[in-house]
Amino acid sequence: MNRLASLSRCACLLLALALLPAHVARARDTAPPSLIPLPAQLTLQHGGFTVDVHTPVVLASHDAATKQTADYLIDLVARTRGLHLRLADDDKTTHAIVLQRDPLAPVAQAEGYALDVTPEGIRITARDDAGLFHGAITLYQLLTPDAKQGAVEVPALSIRDWPRFAWRGLMLDSARHFQSVAEVEKLIDQMAQLKLDVLHWHLTDDQGWRIEIKRYPELTKIGAWRTPPDAGHDGEPQRYGGFYTQAQIRAVVAYAAARHVTIVPELDMPGHAQAAVASYPQVGVTGQRPKVSIDSGVNPWLYNVDDDTFVFIDHVLDEVMALFPSKYIHVGGDEAIKDQWQASPAVQAKMHALGITSEDALQGWFIGRIGQYLDQHGRKLIGWDEILEGDNLPADATVMSWRGIDGAIKAALLGHDVVMSPAPDLYFDHVQGDLADEYSGRLGVESLQDVYGFRAVPDVLNATQAKHVLGMQANVWTEHLPTMAHVEHAVFPRLDALAEVAWSPAATNDWPGFLARLPAQLARQRAQHVAYADSAFAVDIQADRNVALATGKATVTLSDQTGFGSIHYTLDGSTPTPASPRYDAPFNVSLPATVRAASFAADGSALSAPRERVLDRAALLSLPGTALANCPGSDFRLRVQPMPDATSTQPVYAVNVFDTCQLFPPTLMDGVAAIHVDAVRLPRNFQLAHEQKLVVSRPHGTPFGELVVHADRCDGAVLASMPLPDPARGPRRFKLDAKLPAQSGEHGLCLVYTAPIAGPLYALGRVSLEAGP
Ligand code: ACM
Repeated sequence: MNRLASLSRCACLLLALALLPAHVARARDTAPPSLIPLPAQLTLQHGGFTVDVHTPVVLASHDAATKQTADYLIDLVARTRGLHLRLADDDKTTHAIVLQRDPLAPVAQAEGYALDVTPEGIRITARDDAGLFHGAITLYQLLTPDAKQGAVEVPALSIRDWPRFAWRGLMLDSARHFQSVAEVEKLIDQMAQLKLDVLHWHLTDDQGWRIEIKRYPELTKIGAWRTPPDAGHDGEPQRYGGFYTQAQIRAVVAYAAARHVTIVPELDMPGHAQAAVASYPQVGVTGQRPKVSIDSGVNPWLYNVDDDTFVFIDHVLDEVMALFPSKYIHVGGDEAIKDQWQASPAVQAKMHALGITSEDALQGWFIGRIGQYLDQHGRKLIGWDEILEGDNLPADATVMSWRGIDGAIKAALLGHDVVMSPAPDLYFDHVQGDLADEYSGRLGVESLQDVYGFRAVPDVLNATQAKHVLGMQANVWTEHLPTMAHVEHAVFPRLDALAEVAWSPAATNDWPGFLARLPAQLARQRAQHVAYADSAFAVDIQADRNVALATGKATVTLSDQTGFGSIHYTLDGSTPTPASPRYDAPFNVSLPATVRAASFAADGSALSAPRERVLDRAALLSLPGTALANCPGSDFRLRVQPMPDATSTQPVYAVNVFDTCQLFPPTLMDGVAAIHVDAVRLPRNFQLAHEQKLVVSRPHGTPFGELVVHADRCDGAVLASMPLPDPARGPRRFKLDAKLPAQSGEHGLCLVYTAPIAGPLYALGRVSLEAGP
């Protein structure tokens, strides 16, 4: 191998590294090892060191944390590579893996480490426990460069590494859908293996209160459970929910701490409080007891602002602080529409007494009061960027910017620390791709490359202001992610991309280089049964439908999001392999044809599962609702599972809760005489707050509304009107059929549901044009 000239572990090397800018030194034609995130400094050298079952792991420092790190490394390598290393009982330091906490270790930055591989062995040194752990993770990745099992030759190299940002986070929403302790721990494990260090745990919301509070047992007796829409039918459970006992939380906190992940709990206030108010109506504004919400979106229930409510919140915070040692406590602050405060004489009287003139300022006062309580207990308040509203924010409060990056800029200019987690860039509830089989989530697409391309420090901040950017965080909201399979699909591999831009020096960020290092990481995740999405590599099989309908021939174009790897395809229905024809340029087929395609990494491993497209007249005239664009006027779009709490990943339906109107693209209509629709009735479990007025309501001529088909445009001639069945009877999925008047040439269709907007939401499963009804 053509590596850089050999440099032994000597002062000259350290000097050389000290003089290097933060970058990867490597020979021109030698790729760095498949490390994610890429280390700050990496120098490849001649030769290597083979690690096999005889290689001892030696603890050169005899503290508990070093032992814990060694145990973690040994267990992980055994689990994923079947390579069973053992802790040495002697102090042999050559031909060994040596782990050493050392106050004089070469990397001085917090969480930093040095890792040296020479033909004589491997040594990791760090000044702090986290650094040693991160070094062990890097070694784990060096020991698993591929999906093989057993002994491995590690290239000789020298790494000096430390994080770019101190806050490298992931927010998990366990309120909208609940994950088991084992599932949360599995996620923490993956975070640790990516050198992420903050799990922001969203534990309370309108749809569920998930943390046991001993003083207030109703919070989990009532607040942790909701009755799903259509409970007990169509895959919906009778009751949905769950909560973490204090013992479980302690265990998860300890599990995370052993992996150098801090858990920052979030209790959302003053809004997103419906589950709390459902449990203890006296902490609400109206005195009424709502149900725990089944509606996602913005619910109106707020906390009260009287003294008793603050006593309640303080007591809850006491138990939370006892469970979570984190310096930061997240208090939410987002999306608190103020209708209840505005309508309440008691709240208005309190505002008057306090001399507060707006409800936004009252929210500032509320958050400020909570901030003081946290401060008295040695903790720091962090909240979503709405906490900037009002002028009572404690000076040392930290702002998590989610409504774009403006909140972060404003906060940093005011001298607050900020964490960048803007929507949609780092919102992992947005789908990763838009192929028909993508799971549920929000649109638009936030691709792997979009995440990798996110820049945490806005250009407008000068160097001093930029120091307020603590780091970045992705958020996985789970309204549309009912199971861990959904969560993992949403999180991976985008979390790998986030980890690299949060850890590695900005100057080393390199999208093609990241892609080249990703297949090995995907193999590690496969070995740990992480159900990552293949959306970045899934092959989109395109052909001009109208040319194919007119000529019986199609020119097929294959592509994926990244252009990385190679696409191979078959035309005989068989599963594509790297030995199948490689796609280099569009190719022609005669109808009927079945194209199957998948993408592969250079080592032959599959980057995506095969995708299939049938090209015949029937298939060309039939499209899933997920492929039909929104009508003009509203680009809001969700992909939802059939029922909100059902566990299936497919099918999914595209819905626009503001306007149930979609466009069938221009299609050669010659010979088309009928339309056939697989329709579905979905619960309309969305709270749109002040945006409710934007929901489009249409006149209907039959009791439950119709699906109306217009020619070409939504104001075009009505070609068909298909009455909807009684929603109280009959199956949720049903078929609608109608004749269409003869047309020739290319025409689009506008498909509009006119069902009353107070009732269920309708979606299109599939729309097919046919020769006859
Ligand atoms: C948020 O997405 N409501 C913080």
